[in-house]
Amino acid sequence: MTPHVVPDPQAGAAVKAADRAHVFHSWSAQGLIDPLAVAGAEGSYFWDYDGNRYLDFTSGLVYTNIGYQHPKVVAAIQEQAAKLATFAPAFAVDVRSEAARLIAERTPGDLDKIFFTNGGAEAVENAVRMARLHTGRHKVLSAFRSYHGATSTAINLTGDPRRWASDTGSAGVVRFWAPFLYRSPFYAETEQQECERALAHLEDTIAFEGPGTIAAIILETVPGTAGIMTPPPGYLTGVREICDKYGIVFVLDEVMAGFGRTGKWFAAEHFDVVPDLLTFAKGVNSGYVPLGGVAISEKIAATFETRPYPGGLTYSGHPLACAAAVATIQVMEDEKVVENAARIGETVLGPGLRELAERHPSVGEVRGMGVFWALDLVRNKETREPLVPYNAAGEANAPMAAFGAAAKKNGLWPFVNMNRTHAVPACNVTADEVKEGLAALDAALTVADEHTV
Ligand SMILES: Cc1ncc(COP(=O)(O)O)c(C=O)c1O
Repeated sequence: MTPHVVPDPQAGAAVKAADRAHVFHSWSAQGLIDPLAVAGAEGSYFWDYDGNRYLDFTSGLVYTNIGYQHPKVVAAIQEQAAKLATFAPAFAVDVRSEAARLIAERTPGDLDKIFFTNGGAEAVENAVRMARLHTGRHKVLSAFRSYHGATSTAINLTGDPRRWASDTGSAGVVRFWAPFLYRSPFYAETEQQECERALAHLEDTIAFEGPGTIAAIILETVPGTAGIMTPPPGYLTGVREICDKYGIVFVLDEVMAGFGRTGKWFAAEHFDVVPDLLTFAKGVNSGYVPLGGVAISEKIAATFETRPYPGGLTYSGHPLACAAAVATIQVMEDEKVVENAARIGETVLGPGLRELAERHPSVGEVRGMGVFWALDLVRNKETREPLVPYNAAGEANAPMAAFGAAAKKNGLWPFVNMNRTHAVPACNVTADEVKEGLAALDAALTVADEHTV
């Protein structure tokens, strides 16, 4: 239950004024934004200073996998702060060792060594560095429809338009098309065709780039921000085979898809694939303290057994972050949070979204698994023309802005990206909360429907 919220608009105005005066926000024209002042959060909800409460269908930035303010994780952070608030990364520290053990036990295959970072982008940076040093090659292949973070290498690997302003075009990155049947780059009509053609395209790209120049292929196991496109059966195992054939390191980015979101600890389990390196962050400790990392296979770890790994971070394996990870993983086990995500996806969220798609002309496709779903909104179901153009802004983006505003009016905080809304609640969301969210989406989609033709 959310505690009784006493509105305090004056306090909210002060928070907002200081924010506007001094906080420089990510990805924004500073003068054009109007951030909501948040007064508190608990479980699947947060609220503002005016007494408005929102069901969070974004999990923050898709990371509060156990919801806000889980008392056991909060207590673990408090206890760790009292015991040993920080310690440098070169030492063996109990809570760091334990976090690494718990993570390694859950990652697939022989990914048994953990390099800790402060977040996802740093995990990607270090995975790429490891792959380059391991192979002695420089190029990295990544998918056009992808997001890998905002640091220098990670943003260059990213496919989505947030890359454009920082794209050096020389970071050793080559992009290719990964499978996405609904908007097939290969004119495919079946999942099987899409899979075969995507694999052939990848192998052609490798042949023409020069297999001996390619250090790694990086893919989100299930691409997240780019649209939650579950890969067709056989694709990821096909990529695994291609990597083995050419001695290329296979990196799976599970920063968003990992730690329960797809209804398994890691999305790779759905596809029977084990990468050489796996990046994680977000759900590892529900973002209560910044933490990310790379899970490293035996083969790559061996490269750095007697040769130093030339990379590090002051806060690598920070005790507070690791304590939050240990407690989060324990809570996820005890409260069967991963199982809940799978069951909610199969029995409530997936069927509920499909039912909305049947009734709303603006919903072109529903796709996803667990608590990881996208609604692809269209102007017309036949032509599949997106409800707004790719990377639309201002007036061109008005239909999606109207959809988002309608969702908020109905008490739902929606994830909106281009012509899509993603339903990505906490992995421990209840069936009743999901039903509440579906009702709010229903109302908001009626507004999107007005823009169909
Ligand atoms: C798949 C993926 N990789 C990497 C990142 C970057 O993570 P961070 O923002 O923690 O640097 C994100 C963030 O959304 C992500 O979704």
